[in-house]
Amino acid sequence: MIKVAPSIMCADFLELKAELLALGSADQFHIDVMDGHFVPNFSLNSSIITKIKQISSVPIDVHLMMDNPDEHIKAFADAGADIIIPHIEVMKHPNRTLSYIKSLGKKAGVSINPATDLSSIPYIIDNLDTICVMTVDPGFAGQKMLPNMAQKVAQINEIIKKTNKTVDIMVDGQIMEETAPLLVKSGANVLVMGSSGLFNHPRNEYAEVISKFQHIDEKNLKN
Ligand code: DX5
Ligand code: ZN
Repeated sequence: MIKVAPSIMCADFLELKAELLALGSADQFHIDVMDGHFVPNFSLNSSIITKIKQISSVPIDVHLMMDNPDEHIKAFADAGADIIIPHIEVMKHPNRTLSYIKSLGKKAGVSINPATDLSSIPYIIDNLDTICVMTVDPGFAGQKMLPNMAQKVAQINEIIKKTNKTVDIMVDGQIMEETAPLLVKSGANVLVMGSSGLFNHPRNEYAEVISKFQHIDEKNLKN
């Protein structure tokens, strides 16, 4: 089954508790953290994770769109994040950072921008639980997917297959009915669902939308 990770920054913050409860069948919540430097925007921080953990048992992944993740990883781990995903573009010593995340008892991932090549992935894969493929330049919800992203997912899938490891391939950016099937066919198994494919629906449809994407591999990818 495919995992669905709602992008919580796209939820209605005036009614966040109702939003989170309506998203209860999701596989993980995706928390976007932006520092105004690595990306030209600001979004969520560790205190929202502490709050979410008080009312939901859905695991939390944290997408760290920041220049200096090493300085902040502990705060996100302490707040209750389950999977911590800094960007490969800013990690000076990726294996050290990923090992540090694991030493805190958390799963470790890397996020990779659309134009970043995959050359370092084979050298860090032993420390990875998740690779988050950005399918838009990070920083804003509601952008259009960039070209050749399914091809990139397929290349990552090949790299993973050469190991005997299970590594999730997450895709993030304009994931919707029109874009998800090809990405899943190429090897993606975690769909970050934001303004394009989930929060454009009314709240009473969230469970149905989540279920549809969780089963997208069985329904749409037979041939
Ligand atoms: C983009 C963020 C995403 C985004 C995805 O920088 O990391 O999580 O909100 O949702 P869409 O593209 O559907 O609005
Ligand atoms: Zn994200």
